[in-house]
Amino acid sequence: MGTPTTFISLFLILVILCTSTVANGDHPDHAKPSKGIRAAYWPSFNSFPASSIQTSLFTHIYYAFLLPDPATFKLSITSDDQTKLPEFIGSLLNLTPPVKTLFSIGGGGSNATVFSEMASTKQSRQVFINSSIEVARKYGFQGVDLDWEFPANVVDMSNLALLYKQWRNSLDEEAKACGKPRLLLTSAVYYASEFQVYGGPRSYPAGAISKYLDWASPMCFDYHGSWENFTGEHSALYDSKSNISTNYGIRSWIQAGVPAKKLVMGLPLYGKSWRLRDPKVNGVGAAAVGVGPGDDGILLYYQIVELNAQSNATVVFDKQTKSYYSYSGTTWIGYDDVRSVALKVRFAKSLGLGGYFFWALGQDKDWTLSQKASNAWKYGG
Ligand SMILES: *[C@@H]1O[C@H](CO)[C@@H](O)[C@H](O)[C@H]1NC(C)=O
Ligand SMILES: *[C@@H]1O[C@H](CO)[C@@H](O)[C@H](O)[C@H]1NC(C)=O
Ligand SMILES: *[C@@H]1O[C@H](CO)[C@@H](O)[C@H](O)[C@H]1NC(C)=O
Ligand SMILES: *[C@@H]1O[C@H](CO)[C@@H](O)[C@H](O)[C@H]1NC(C)=O
Ligand SMILES: *[C@@H]1O[C@H](CO)[C@@H](O)[C@H](O)[C@H]1NC(C)=O
Repeated sequence: MGTPTTFISLFLILVILCTSTVANGDHPDHAKPSKGIRAAYWPSFNSFPASSIQTSLFTHIYYAFLLPDPATFKLSITSDDQTKLPEFIGSLLNLTPPVKTLFSIGGGGSNATVFSEMASTKQSRQVFINSSIEVARKYGFQGVDLDWEFPANVVDMSNLALLYKQWRNSLDEEAKACGKPRLLLTSAVYYASEFQVYGGPRSYPAGAISKYLDWASPMCFDYHGSWENFTGEHSALYDSKSNISTNYGIRSWIQAGVPAKKLVMGLPLYGKSWRLRDPKVNGVGAAAVGVGPGDDGILLYYQIVELNAQSNATVVFDKQTKSYYSYSGTTWIGYDDVRSVALKVRFAKSLGLGGYFFWALGQDKDWTLSQKASNAWKYGG
């Protein structure tokens, strides 16, 4: 048994450990920075080195992605991961200020059926959960993230609730047993709390999300793309004609009962391009005959900045959606720039959200948008 002094200092250390998840970074003397989550995903499959992450702009960095083995449901650590996981953790440990590290399981390219099967029995969920803990502890992560895109029906959604519950219980127990801080549990989710497309109507388990997750991260992007024959702002803050907007999505989460503080809003560092049918008809919703430059019409922010400069593009701030678009000849690109990112971050703050995240590191132009978002969050700038 310890003396009262050791007890008190232990208690203080615990308090510091438990409250230091969000606050760090450089702050000028005149303003007290807002706390909150400023996160970003690091795609392990790209060439952007983790060692060059400017950690003052972030609080949490996600390694993206790990996948469950389709037969065993244990996380499969590929030979690439075997190199990159320790590299990622090692690089970030060397950077100041420190950030928390999580790995994300799944991603847009992963097989949703595997997640559906994994989540369908208590036993398979436990194998998956145990494996996530084992990997997190082995490499020194502070949290785990699920990015199941997407639960396809109401059965998947109720199994997802069971998974969150079982996972959180296991994390609590493991922390108690090993005496380490509990691993964080977060999840990337659809921009809205319910699906009206891609299969039958279904809603996320808002109760389980509120109770068992540290936060959920609505992916407020990809609203429009190559599947459409008209131009669109793929991360529109507002849309007067449809529910496909960040304003609608975030409010649907709050309406569903998830506390605003547990929502971390997604921001894209990429845009979507189209080829205009008529260069003179070039607004949002203009007729398009296919995608423009980029990978299936996806252009990264730094590529957009360069392309706009090279092509002398006309750049427009669209007041309705609070987004940007540029056009030059038949090329049209919808994206976020400094002003729209600041507006979105202010929107997130005004609703009392827990923070924001970017997809993805390596896509910004000299940290321009990351810096703007961070300042807007911390100081309202
Ligand atoms: C997805 O996983 C399921 C179950 O393992 C498998 O049957 C299916 O072939 C997979 N689909 C693809 C596209 O790999
Ligand atoms: C998961 O881990 C716990 C704690 O170590 C252990 O008791 C349990 O048997 C494991 N379950 C599975 C399915 O691996
Ligand atoms: C938007 O969502 C609301 C429910 O949240 C629904 O009543 C309305 O019909 C939807 N509007 C459109 C255009 O889909
Ligand atoms: C887009 O395609 C739909 C159906 O294929 C068609 O009805 C519509 O007129 C097209 N719109 C434009 C702007 O070309
Ligand atoms: C771009 O615009 C500038 C000034 O408006 C002009 O001097 C230049 O020739 C233009 N370049 C191209 C590639 O159109």
